[in-house]
Amino acid sequence: MPILIAPSILSADFARLGDEVRAIDAAGADWIHVDVMDGHFVPNITIGPAVVRAIRGTTAKPFDVHLMIAPATPYLKAFAEAGADRITIHVEAEGANTGKALAAIRDLGKKAGLTLKPGTPVSALTPYLDQVDLVLVMSVEPGFGGQAFMPEAVGRIAEVRRLLAGRNVLIEVDGGITPDNAGQPAKAGAGVLVAGSSVFRGDYAANIRALRTAAG
Ligand code: DX5
Ligand code: ZN
Repeated sequence: MPILIAPSILSADFARLGDEVRAIDAAGADWIHVDVMDGHFVPNITIGPAVVRAIRGTTAKPFDVHLMIAPATPYLKAFAEAGADRITIHVEAEGANTGKALAAIRDLGKKAGLTLKPGTPVSALTPYLDQVDLVLVMSVEPGFGGQAFMPEAVGRIAEVRRLLAGRNVLIEVDGGITPDNAGQPAKAGAGVLVAGSSVFRGDYAANIRALRTAAG
């Protein structure tokens, strides 16, 4: 399965967001990673369903929506109706309600993803392995683009891969991914690379190509 590249629009020029989405679509992005932050679950506020709706028409590529909000459940329908194709929630945000929230995402006809902060043990995923289409391993503390890749994420990806035990579930890695480090998470089992600051500068197509090449 060739590696998938999901540029994060958090690093895009928000004053020209539609044009930026068109540009990364044309530059070869496989998915568009949309980082939603509520200033509560993470110390930053970004965009909501209205912006997802506004950019939906600029590309046919899947919207890979990463909800860094707590609780996420009350907003799942709004993001689904705004145009999300995949909705990923944090296990720390939903706690005991995580299973219900994942079921709700699938009931909305969307792909369900589960993610965890770097400090959360991978075992927190165990109860939900049959309810997810994707596991997102954070390689930075969620909240901001442009942070340095946390190398311990590589071991966590391998741990998630073992935990999934051959299930048809994608592993995505997110945070500080550059051509210099992309090979490690890919080798450990990541099938999808999120990248913001290493894509949204200079020649987007060349940056996406460099990530693909580095991932091997
Ligand atoms: C951080 C977000 C990431 C981030 C990636 O909370 O979930 O998707 O925007 O940006 P870079 O690639 O610059 O770390
Ligand atoms: Zn993200």
